[in-house]
Amino acid sequence: MIPYRPEPLTDFRVNANHEALLAAIRQVQGELGRDYPLIINGDRMITDDMQSSINPSNKSQVIGRMSKANAEQAEQAIQGAFDTFQVWSHVPAGQRARLLFRAAADLRRRKHEFNAWLMLESGKTRAEADADTAEAIDFMEYYARQMIEMSETAAKKLVWMDGEDNDLQYIPLGVGIVIPPWNFPLAIMAGMTTAAIVAGNTVVLKPASPTPVIAFKFVQLLEEAGMPAGVVQFLPGSGSEIGDLLVSHRLSRFISFTGSREVGLRIFELAAKTAPGQIWLKRFIGELGGKDGIVVDKDADLEAAAQAIVASAFGYSGQKCSACSRAIVHEAVYDTVLNRCVELTRALKVGDVLDFGSDTGPVIDQSAFRKIFEYIEVGNKEGRLVAGGGKAEGDGYFIEPTIIADVKPDAILMQEEIFGPVLAFCKAASFDEALDIANNTEYGLTGAVFSTNLSHLELARERFHVGNLYFNRKCTGAIVGVHPFGGFNMSGTDSKAGGPDYLQQFMQLKLISEKL
Ligand code: NAD
Ligand code: ALA
Repeated sequence: MIPYRPEPLTDFRVNANHEALLAAIRQVQGELGRDYPLIINGDRMITDDMQSSINPSNKSQVIGRMSKANAEQAEQAIQGAFDTFQVWSHVPAGQRARLLFRAAADLRRRKHEFNAWLMLESGKTRAEADADTAEAIDFMEYYARQMIEMSETAAKKLVWMDGEDNDLQYIPLGVGIVIPPWNFPLAIMAGMTTAAIVAGNTVVLKPASPTPVIAFKFVQLLEEAGMPAGVVQFLPGSGSEIGDLLVSHRLSRFISFTGSREVGLRIFELAAKTAPGQIWLKRFIGELGGKDGIVVDKDADLEAAAQAIVASAFGYSGQKCSACSRAIVHEAVYDTVLNRCVELTRALKVGDVLDFGSDTGPVIDQSAFRKIFEYIEVGNKEGRLVAGGGKAEGDGYFIEPTIIADVKPDAILMQEEIFGPVLAFCKAASFDEALDIANNTEYGLTGAVFSTNLSHLELARERFHVGNLYFNRKCTGAIVGVHPFGGFNMSGTDSKAGGPDYLQQFMQLKLISEKL
C-alpha cells in the first residue's frame, strides 16, 4: 500500500484550478434552496419540521432546508444503528478501510464542489475551504491505513509464552453518537464519523445546525462509495431537542463530541449517568474550546511573529479552536509587534467569500455576531481598541478584525473563548512571565512561541502546557498525521485527531489465550 501523504492544497493561481472552482460554484448555486431529508437505515425522510441553512455572507440566501428529527426518529435511528452493528462489526477491517479509500478518492475528484458548498454554507474563503476538504481526505486516507495496520499487528506486540497461543484483537465498541461543530463542517465531521465506522462501529451523526447540507452531501458520498444502510444514521436536529436523548440512550456506547466547553461538559456529565438497562460505561471522546496564545520573545523574528499572529487570529475570522486570541509579547518588543500587527490587520479585506479578494469572510450567524460585539465592548473597557471594532460592510455577518491592546492577564478578554476575530495583546516583563501568562487559562489547546533563544525554546517545550505547541510558526493549521491535534485541561480529552492513537478510542482490546 502507498504510504499516507497529506493531500496537497490547490494552487488557485493556476487558471485550470480557478476555472474548476468557478464551475463548481455555478453548479452549487443552481442547487441552492432544496429540501434535505434525514437518513435512517438508508431511508430518506423529509419531516414537517425544517430548518433553513443560511449563507453567512448573504443572509437572504437559503443554502438548503434541512429536515429536523424528533424524539421518535432519534429512537429509530439508534435502534437501527444497533441492529446494523451486529453485521458491520463483523465486516473485516480491510473491507471497512476500502470504503474510506473509495470515499477519499471520490472526494478528491469532487473537491471543488465540496469547496463551493463550504464557501456558501460556512463562509470560508476558497483557501480555507480547500484546506477543510483536503483535511477530510487526509482523515480518511490516514484512518483507513491505521485500521489495517492495527488489525494486522496487535497480536504481534504480545510477548511469547511457551505452551500458549495468545491473540490480541481490536474489536469495536457499538453505537456511537457523533456530534461535530460547524467550524470544520467537512473535515472534523468526516474525521469523527469515519474514524468511528472504520473501527467497526455504527453511528448516529447529528450535524451542527448551521452546516447540515455539507454533512448530508458527505453522507451521500459515503453511500455512493458503498457504505451499507444503517452504518451512518444522518440525524439533523436541535442539540437541545434530541441531544439528551441520544447521549443518554441505553444503546449508545460512546459519544464523540467536538464543540464548546459548555455543551461538552453537559454531555460528559450526561454520558456518565447509567440508563436503565445499560450494561457498559459510556466512553466520552471530547474536544472542546481553546484560548490559544502566541508568545513573542525579545529576540524573535518580529516580522514573522506579527505575520503569524495575524494569520492565526483572523484566518476564518478567528473561528478556529486553534485561533490565536492572545498575543503575549515581551515588553522590549511589544510596541513594534503591536504596531506591525495593527498595520497587517487594517490591510485585511473582509467580505463575501465569493469575492476572491476577501482575506476573510463573515462569522457564522446572528448569535455569534451579537456575542462577539459584546466581547468587543468588554474589551473596550479592559484595554485599548487599536484596530477594527466595528461591523464590516455587506449583507452578511461581517466583523472587522479587532485588536485590543494592553489587556491584563486575568481580564475576561484573556480568559474566555470568543470564537471570533478579536485578539487581545498583553505585555510581559520577561520570557518567564510570558509563559506564566500563556498558561494562565483553563484551556490548553494550541500555543506558539517566537524566539531565537534556544534555552527559552527548551523552557517552553517543558512548561507551555498545551496539546499542540508550535515554535516560530502560527498556531493554526495542524495537518493529519503530521500534527496530531487535541488539547489539555478544559480543551478536552486530548484525543489527538489525526494521530496514531486516535482510533483506539473507538475500540476495545480482546485477549484470547489458548493452552496448547
Ligand atoms: P457547540 O458546542 O455549540 O456545538 C457543537 C455541537 O453540539 C453541534 O453539533 C451542536 O448542535 C451540538 N449540541 C448543542 N447542544 C447540544 C446538546 N444539548 N446535546 C447534544 N448536542 C448538542 O459548538 P460549535 O459552536 O458548533 O463549535 C464551536 C466550538 O467548538 C468552539 O468552542 C471551538 O473551540 C470548538 N472546537 C473544538 C475543536 C477541537 O478540536 N478542540 C475543533 C473545532 C471546534
Ligand atoms: N485542526 C485545526 C487547526 O489546527 C483546528 O487549525
